[in-house]
Amino acid sequence: MSAEVHVAVVGASGAVGDRMIQLLEQRAFPLKSVKFLASERSAGKTIRFRGEECPITPITESAFRGVQIVLSSTPGPISKEWSPIAARAGAVVVDNSSAFRMDPDVPLVVPEVNPHHIARHKGIIANPNCSTIQMVVALKPLHDAARVKRVIVSTYQSVSGAGMKGIHELETQSAATVRGEAIPVPEKFPHPIIGNCLPQIDDFLPSGYTKEEMKMVHETRKIMGDDTIDVSPTCVRVPVPFCHSESISVEFERAISVEEARSLLANAPGVTLVDDPAHKKYPLATDAVGRDDVFVGRIRQDLSNPRVLLFWCVSDNLRKGAATNAVQIAEELIKQNLIRS
Ligand SMILES: NC(=O)c1ccc[n+]([C@@H]2O[C@H](COP(=O)([O-])OP(=O)(O)OC[C@H]3O[C@@H](n4cnc5c(N)ncnc54)[C@H](OP(=O)(O)O)[C@@H]3O)[C@@H](O)[C@H]2O)c1
Repeated sequence: MSAEVHVAVVGASGAVGDRMIQLLEQRAFPLKSVKFLASERSAGKTIRFRGEECPITPITESAFRGVQIVLSSTPGPISKEWSPIAARAGAVVVDNSSAFRMDPDVPLVVPEVNPHHIARHKGIIANPNCSTIQMVVALKPLHDAARVKRVIVSTYQSVSGAGMKGIHELETQSAATVRGEAIPVPEKFPHPIIGNCLPQIDDFLPSGYTKEEMKMVHETRKIMGDDTIDVSPTCVRVPVPFCHSESISVEFERAISVEEARSLLANAPGVTLVDDPAHKKYPLATDAVGRDDVFVGRIRQDLSNPRVLLFWCVSDNLRKGAATNAVQIAEELIKQNLIRS
């Protein structure tokens, strides 16, 4: 990467925005300039970046003038309004919200899986849902070798998947529990998250699935470029601050041994294999936090079907599940010379 670029981080005061800013510092990203945008609520606050206090300013049309790459992580309706405005101003927007993910004109990209889709962009590239990203990074090398037919996945999703308010809700409920006080009325989650696993993330659809679950179905097919892959998801919120864990069962076209799967995953980009059950070594949220990889372990064959493998998969939802994936896309845009000069 050589050319330096003008970047705007939109949603800079949020949980994902915070990690994007950390990554721009940590990865020696080739920045010519950076601006930090959020809502009116954050106006006047500052962000410390490369030793300087930088102001957060509200999103306006003029804020995008001269910006080449926008890293956006705002709620869907805000992205829907502002990402096209930023794109019309000449920037390429990497958008973390769900607003554009299933738009046929918008590439939905995980760089380890479908980097070739980046070049199709028309100004906006969508970052997939956090639960989907870690699953497809783990599935890709297995799919290339033995073709995935069906995935049954149960997620154990951290509260930071619901942003700053989700983190705050677990903190306040934990503090009340420790003090022996009544748990405050939940605002972000439908029930108390402390002491519970909630089998509901986002709203229910008439089918009985939630919107979060259907994201895993549709996004997996779009990213993998294979509409025949069946996904049966159950998405669960758990009282864990950071990192999503997933129990995944995969049916392949042919039998695949545990040894072959281990070897494929050990050599796959973005995957770290942690699979030594005899020494109690398997992926843990507390080990994955702040890391960029997808961690896979507990690989085992189904007891009745040699074409089915089961494994455990953990990744930091704010890093690879959001910010890291977006920054990797931005780095690819620069490498492939896909931004305006
Ligand atoms: N959290 C995850 O693990 C994760 C993973 C993948 C994708 N995503 C997606 O990323 C997006 C951000 O998630 P998050 O977890 O970072 O949420 P968050 O912590 O709630 O942050 C939201 C950000 O959006 C800004 N914002 C809200 N309303 C705005 C408005 N009216 N105008 C301008 N800016 C506004 C907020 O600014 P203020 O602070 O000024 O209100 C804040 O910077 C969402 O679309 C989410 O679905 C999140």
